Formats: sequence, C-alpha cells, structure tokens
Amino acid sequence: MARYELVKRSVALITLTNPPVNALSSAVRHAISKTMERALSDPKVTAVVICGENGRFCGGADIREFAGPLRGPPLVPLLDAIEAGEKPVVAAIEGVALGGGFELALVCHYRIAHYKARLGLPEVTLGILPAAGGTQRLPRLIGIPAALELITTGRHVSAQEALKLGMVDQVTEQNTCEVALEFALKAVGKPLSSRRLSTLTTPCPPDLDGVFEVATMQVQKKARGVMAPLACVQAVRAATLPYSEGIKRESELMATLFNSGQAQALQYSFFAQRTAEKWTLPSGAQWNNSKPREIRSAAVIGLGTMGRGIVVSLARVGISVIAVESDKKLLETGRQMVIGMLERDAKRRGVSASLSLLKFSLSLQDLKDVDLVIEAVFEDMALKKQIFRELSKVCRPATLLCTNTSGLDVDALAGMTDRPQLVAGMHFFSPAHVMKLLEVVCGLCSSNEAIATAMSLGKRMGKVSVAVGNCPGFVGNRMLMPYLEQATFLLEEGATPEQIDKALEDFGFAMGVFRMSDLAGLDVGWRVRKESGLTGPDVDPKDPPRRRQGRKYCPIPDMVCEQGRFGQKTGRGWYMYDKPGDTNAKPDPLIQNLLKTYRTRYGIQPRKITDQEIIERCLFALANEGFRILEDKIAGQPEDIDVIYLFGYGFPRHRGGPMFYASMVGLERVLERLEYYHHAFPDVPHLEPSPLLKKLVARGSPPIQKWREHIKSMHSHL
Ligand code: CAA
Ligand code: NAI
Repeated sequence: MARYELVKRSVALITLTNPPVNALSSAVRHAISKTMERALSDPKVTAVVICGENGRFCGGADIREFAGPLRGPPLVPLLDAIEAGEKPVVAAIEGVALGGGFELALVCHYRIAHYKARLGLPEVTLGILPAAGGTQRLPRLIGIPAALELITTGRHVSAQEALKLGMVDQVTEQNTCEVALEFALKAVGKPLSSRRLSTLTTPCPPDLDGVFEVATMQVQKKARGVMAPLACVQAVRAATLPYSEGIKRESELMATLFNSGQAQALQYSFFAQRTAEKWTLPSGAQWNNSKPREIRSAAVIGLGTMGRGIVVSLARVGISVIAVESDKKLLETGRQMVIGMLERDAKRRGVSASLSLLKFSLSLQDLKDVDLVIEAVFEDMALKKQIFRELSKVCRPATLLCTNTSGLDVDALAGMTDRPQLVAGMHFFSPAHVMKLLEVVCGLCSSNEAIATAMSLGKRMGKVSVAVGNCPGFVGNRMLMPYLEQATFLLEEGATPEQIDKALEDFGFAMGVFRMSDLAGLDVGWRVRKESGLTGPDVDPKDPPRRRQGRKYCPIPDMVCEQGRFGQKTGRGWYMYDKPGDTNAKPDPLIQNLLKTYRTRYGIQPRKITDQEIIERCLFALANEGFRILEDKIAGQPEDIDVIYLFGYGFPRHRGGPMFYASMVGLERVLERLEYYHHAFPDVPHLEPSPLLKKLVARGSPPIQKWREHIKSMHSHL
C-alpha cells in the first residue's frame, strides 16, 4: 500500500500504491504511518519525498470506507505527525491531489506539482468538508478569500493556478519525483517552522465580516438547502481562531455532515455516475465485452437548436464534421452560429477554435465516407425515415447511423436501413454543447459494438453517457410525462403554478416544473400532444374534454398554448415576462383567471393543496414510472435513471435522483402514499403503484444497490 525506498543515499521515497487513484484506505493510512515512522527514526534519512504510483499522487479518502466503521489509523493525527517531523517532507504531485490527498500534501513542508496535475478539496461535492485540517491549513497558506472559494465549490485547480495561488512551491514539466528528490536534498538543514502551516496565523482581509457575509449569501443562493457549503464557510471562518480551536470546530462541523442523508445522496451520485458508465443492459449486453470503434469523422444532419450544439461537441474533441442543412439560407445561418459558438468556446477554454475540421453541405451524398452520422432534423417520423433510407444507400456499410430523436422509435428508423445493427439513438440535451447528459438508445438490433462506440464517443465529448432501451421517450422523457401531468392535475384541483414551483424549488430543483416549461417552450409538448391525437382536430369526438384515449386528461396546458402563450420566447406562458426572451417570471393574473374559469366550468371545487402533496404526487409518480422502466428493461439499473435525472433534468444532486430519493424516503412509505393518492384520485393516471415497487416492499425494501438482483429474479420468473 506504500513502498519505501532509500534513494540518493539519504532520501526516503514513499510511494503510495493503491490503484487506481491511491485513495487513503485504512491500509494506505497504516502504511504511511509505518513508513513515515521508519523514515523519521532512521538516522541515514535526512529528508522524505511522498509520491503516488502510476502518475497519480492521491485521490483522497477512500469514499467506499465512509459507510462502515473507522478502521486503521485516523488521518488527522497521522498528518499532524508528518507536519511536526524534524525532517523536510516534499510532496511530488502528479495527476491528482484531491481531498485527503491534498490535505496530505498540505502537511508536507514543500509541494512540487507536475504541470498537468490537478489539485483541490472537492469534499463539499460529497456532502462533507475537508476535515483532515484542510479548512484550517489552506486559508493559512493562500488567504481566506481564495480558500473560501476553493473549499465551498470543491473546484479542481490546474498546477499553474495552484502555483499562482501559492498552493504549491514549484511546477515542473520534468519527472516530478526526480525534481522533488533534488528539492528535498536542498531543503535539508533549512528551518521548517515557517513551513508548518498549522503554526501560522491566517492572513485576514480588512473587511473579514463582509467577506464571510458575501460568501454565506452566495452559497445560500447557489445551493438552496444544501448543508455542506454553509458548513464549509463556517469551518473556514474558524481558521481565524488559534489552530487548536479551529480544528475542533472543523471536526464538530464534519460530525453534523458525515452521516447526513445529503452526504449519502451525494456519495451515491458519485458512484452512480461511474456505474452508469460501465453500462449493463437488461439484455445482458455490457461494456466490458464490447470494443468501441474509433470515430475520426462524423456528420450532423440538421443545424437547428440541437444540431449546432452537437457539431460543436464533436469538433472540439478533434473530430472532423460535415454539417448538412436542407437549404442554402439555413445552411449559412447554421454555419455562422456554429462558428460563433466554437470561437466563444475556444476563447473561454484558452485554445484555438477547430474551424478547419468543419465542412458544410446541402447534400447527403457528401456523407459517403464518414464513420458516424447523427441525425437532428425535426421530430417528424416520416422525415427521419426518409433520411435513414437515404443514408443507408449513401454511407459506406460500416458507418454508424444515429438519431437525436427525443422519443421516437429507434427500431422503426433502423428498419429503414441495410444495417439495423449499426443504428442507435444518441439523445443529447439542450444546449447540446453544454448539457452533460447523453442517452444512448439501444434498439432491438443495435450491436454491442455500436452501443460501445456511442458510449465511448459520449465520454470523449465529456458527456455522462447512459445506455437505455428503446420505448417512447426512452428513460428521461418517459418519466417526465407523469411528473408534468401530476403538476397540471394539481392546478386543476386548486394549486397555482407559483405554488407548485416554489415547493419543487424548496425541494432543491433549480427550477420548478412550470418555470422550466416556460424556458423550454410550451409549443413543443403541444405539438407532440396534437400529433398523438390527445388534442387538436384529430381528437376522437366521443372523448369529452377531460378524458382522452380512455384516461383522464388535463387540457389546461393546451388552453394556455391556444392563447399563443408559448413561454419565455413569447413573453407569456405559465408566467408573464416583461418582454419576449426575458427570464424574470412573474405570476400572471390571466392564468389565475383561466384556472378559475376552468374550475367553474367543470364544477371543480378548489381545495388547499399542501407542499407535501405537491412533492409526493410529482416525485413519487416520477419514481413510480422509474420502477416501471426497470420492469420493462428500458433501464438496466436504478443508478442509470438517477444519473439521467441528475444530469439531464436538474434533479437536486443532494437528493441523489428520483430512485435514490424513493429509497431514502422508504419504499414502504412511497408505496403507502401512492396507494393513498391512487385511492383518492382513482382516474388520475400514474398513481397506481408499479408491480416492482410492490415486490421490493414485499421483499423487505432492500437497499438500492440490491435492487438489480431482485429485478433480475423478477424477470427470470416472467
Ligand atoms: N475513493 C474510492 N474510490 C475512488 C475514489 C475515492 N476517493 N476516487 C476514485 N475512485 C474510484 C472510482 O469509483 C472508480 O472506481 P471503479 O473503476 O470501480 O468505477 C476508479 O476509482 C476510477 O475513478 P474515475 O473513473 O473517476 O477516474 P478518473 O480518472 O475519471 O478520475 C479522479 C479520477 C479525478 C480522482 C476522480 O475519481 C475523483 O474525482 N475522485 C474523487 C476525488 C474526491 O472527491 N476526493 C475526496 C474524497 S473525500 C476526502 O478525501 C475527505 C477526507 O480526507 C476525510
Ligand atoms: P430545430 O427545428 O431547431 O432544427 C431542426 C433542423 O433540421 C432545422 O434547422 C431544419 O432546417 C433541419 N432540417 C429539416 N429537414 C432537413 C433535411 N432533410 N436535411 C437537413 N436538415 C433538415 O429542431 P431541434 O430542436 O434541433 O430538434 C432536432 C431533433 O432533436 C428532434 O428530433 C428533437 O426531438 C430532438 N431533440 C430536441 C431537443 C430540444 O430541446 N430542442 C432536445 C433533445 C432532442
């Protein structure tokens, strides 16, 4: 777990050896303790260098150990002993020094970083704080404002920025360990007292109270209801006290966070993201028996809202792209937009824009030789079918054909081609060059190789990719339907858009459902409802207005659209805005009147609706659909659903995602509430508990990590 060597005759080189990130597991802590004791007690040793194997210094505490009781030596006294030692200790930082890893570097008397290294204290993103002295030593090293920013955001900084901030003493492009060894030799004999951060006084800005007031306001605004950032501010404030008092405060604050539900949710989210990357489909297809193809060239068809962002995402990772539009004017508009986006993007990232990789065309004939095509034309099945038919004729047989449809049948498109095994969905989210989520849709015939290629391309573009099955709306948009519908039924029953939004925002969503709909545009869903015959001229005349296709239907969203209220873009939607395009939503008396008239017309007596009912109806219906998705083998594991909601739909990360949230509330309670609401509102759809939820409760509500086994056994009994 840590290798010990005597090098250059008098330097003890301690190498952490716990792949893949040299996390500080109990065994590693034990090994550091033993090797440091040996170095400090060996008279031949005059200095120590600590480094990590495989080009990674240390990724911090072993997060997996947080769930169990503490084993092995605790970190704080171990770090204190390194700092207090009489021999100079140098950290040779390659790869990462994060969390406890960076706290280890902070107790070393000197820090040398490779120019590609990243450093930081990301504990806040796991719902905790840097409690091995990080909140006390970092402010002493780089001052309060910089330390506050780093600790409350958990941001990783580059070696260059770390040097500027004073977090490291030197940045090197050479072999970091060699440089550190030389550095250590030169440090021998120099006084260490000024290098022991815990003995220093924190430099304070003149307006100390003001700095903390602003920081508190900022974290409260940014992370509504999240505890860890606020605790981080309080811990940094304690760095203005003598070290012994500050460290005591750090530890008290950590105790309030460590076992909290928020910390559990955030740590679950960390691992869920990594579980989703190792995709397993219910069909048994999985990442480790499928090799992705290399993608050098691609084409994007349609340069609308989505197509432009997809072109940018591909080009910025060095893939040459042919972008196709349907007419000259649209092609030129699209070209200018893409170039503008790439230039702004390159400026922001400090690199040159990859414009030479782009070609613009009006003809599918130009796509003969590309490795992959992503179709992003209108959501119109006939048009998409025609394009896939044509692509099948034009593209070489090995070209992968993908669609960005937000919910149409991928198999129907695959059926238009001579290579259904090479057809898959690549469902990006808007704006495609910004949003992290990519749903990779596996059709009935999609080969493992095609899915592996789409997944690995997603990773290359910096996306969090989740493999899902094919059904209307896939995972994300299929689940959105019950969530949106509950919200509109609640309007019918007596709530207002602002009341529902507030309840959801207090829960932690960045935007409530109506504010989000106004941003996305209400016309999109209206068009889909018209096309599926739920509203508009094609409605079955036998269906009364509040019943469609055999089930209860709420026509309020259609009535809003019929008034030309499409959301922010028209300056009116569920809210009113000062002008089209404005984002400041204000309650609109016209919507209150519309709701009043509607309720009177249908004899609905409005009732007082509590925030608890809003949360339960919207979120339990959402999770209930998630259980059905697992039953239907559209998602392979609950983690996939949660990752989709965290990265694509703004579900608060400190709640872990809809499935984790359901597990935290308790499956029995979720079942009981759904049964209650289903009984109270028997014809409101989506409230009937799913068979899988019932089965899990009958089996004693196992923890979420065990659901997969139960789902498997359920499928094998079908
Ligand atoms: N503990 C346990 N496992 C960890 C880990 C950690 N700190 N960091 C990474 N891993 C695991 C991952 O789960 C993954 O495991 P699987 O292969 O089984 O899925 C594996 O290491 C590789 O991780 P990534 O896929 O994330 O690799 P990457 O190269 O993309 O990123 C990384 C590397 C930047 C270090 C990233 O893993 C990361 O951000 N890790 C977490 C860092 C962190 O938050 N550290 C603070 C921990 S809390 C702490 O340190 C508090 C304290 O002292 C008391
Ligand atoms: P859009 O209307 O903004 O753009 C579509 C573009 O396709 C237009 O520029 C149009 O000129 C072009 N086009 C139409 N026919 C063409 C043809 N034959 N050849 C070349 N180009 C053609 O639509 P948007 O929003 O970009 O959606 C595209 C696809 O992405 C749809 O399938 C949609 O469901 C999906 N999607 C949309 C999201 C969104 O938030 N807008 C999110 C995720 C997926």
